[in-house]
Amino acid sequence: MTLTARPANPTAPRVAIIGGGIIGLSCAFELAIRRSVPVTLFDPAPFGRGASWAAAGMLAPAFEAAAEEGAHPHLFDLCHHGAELWPAFAADVGQAAGTNLGFSAGPSLALAFDQDQTADLHHLARALDERGIAHEELRPVVARETEPAISERLVAALHLPTDGQVDNRAVVTALIAALQACPHATLRNEAAPLEDNGKGLHLPGHDAILVTAGWNTAAVKVHQNGDLFSLVNWDTSLDEINCIGGQMMSVACGPDLPKMTLRCGPIYIAPKADRVIVGATMEPGIATAAPEPDKIAQLRADAARLCPAIAEAPELETWAGIRPGTPDRAPLIGATATPGLFIAAGHYRNGILLAPITARIMADLILGGPVMPLAREFRPDRAYTTA
Ligand code: GLY
Repeated sequence: MTLTARPANPTAPRVAIIGGGIIGLSCAFELAIRRSVPVTLFDPAPFGRGASWAAAGMLAPAFEAAAEEGAHPHLFDLCHHGAELWPAFAADVGQAAGTNLGFSAGPSLALAFDQDQTADLHHLARALDERGIAHEELRPVVARETEPAISERLVAALHLPTDGQVDNRAVVTALIAALQACPHATLRNEAAPLEDNGKGLHLPGHDAILVTAGWNTAAVKVHQNGDLFSLVNWDTSLDEINCIGGQMMSVACGPDLPKMTLRCGPIYIAPKADRVIVGATMEPGIATAAPEPDKIAQLRADAARLCPAIAEAPELETWAGIRPGTPDRAPLIGATATPGLFIAAGHYRNGILLAPITARIMADLILGGPVMPLAREFRPDRAYTTA
């Protein structure tokens, strides 16, 4: 480890974080390692092995949020600002763990193979123009020179310099290693002993409780008078968190496979150092972690339209992830009506991208510092308006 912890801040609250995915791990990193605040992270499941492990690690404010119909009006701003925090976050986490996170600030290519997809690209380009975000339409021949793995049936392409990627599995592995080595952090592989003692929610030995349990946040258990209740009873806004399943696969790297992240509608191909990830289905209401062979076969066929070499590439792994969604596709970030209870959940398709900015907001809120004004737009009790 090369990032040396300073002595614990003696006036800081002791923070319990419930949920050990990338959001909880990043909040613990921000608090314990960057700000020397004592933190305990609870999760009965293996740390970092839920949606954070299933993800593809795309850091894509433009493609994911600039033209997203029905999304929170400030989701793009949060994603764009979140992407700006990634270079320093990747450097700090990589340094703390002594590992390479496979971080790249960009670019990605958005592709179209028919008229409808071309119209979608033009819509995205207009949305980026309106926001003053850099992008460039590429002629198919130029796009295929840039990335020769793209199918010759390409009709249109958009170069997205803002959309990067990181190896999400390397990130959570590094966060766990860094926290295990930090004297201010304790990782407990068990359910948090959360209780309502009649005066409010309480976790012995802690002053603040931050729940970051993804699509399971509403169901986190609270002990009260010898019974177990779900956390949603203490904050009904958690009822809004839903789940969207996604089937995914990876194939072995090869000379004919892409070196750049490629997007087309719901399909993406995200090359990492040791695998090429292909995603993903979007299945509202589905909370299964089991891969389904027929859906995976369809996914591979769809991806092969972008890049023919995907059709025959040796399969490495298939899996399914569960995205935590909300009605406006933006996370719930902030304090709740219950004193001392904070929530950071519902990051939908952008959990990896939004981890550093969520961690910064939550640390500022919990420590009582100035909080970026944008954070107010995502408070858990907000009314749902969409763009
Ligand atoms: N961010 C990509 C996905 O959710 O599939």
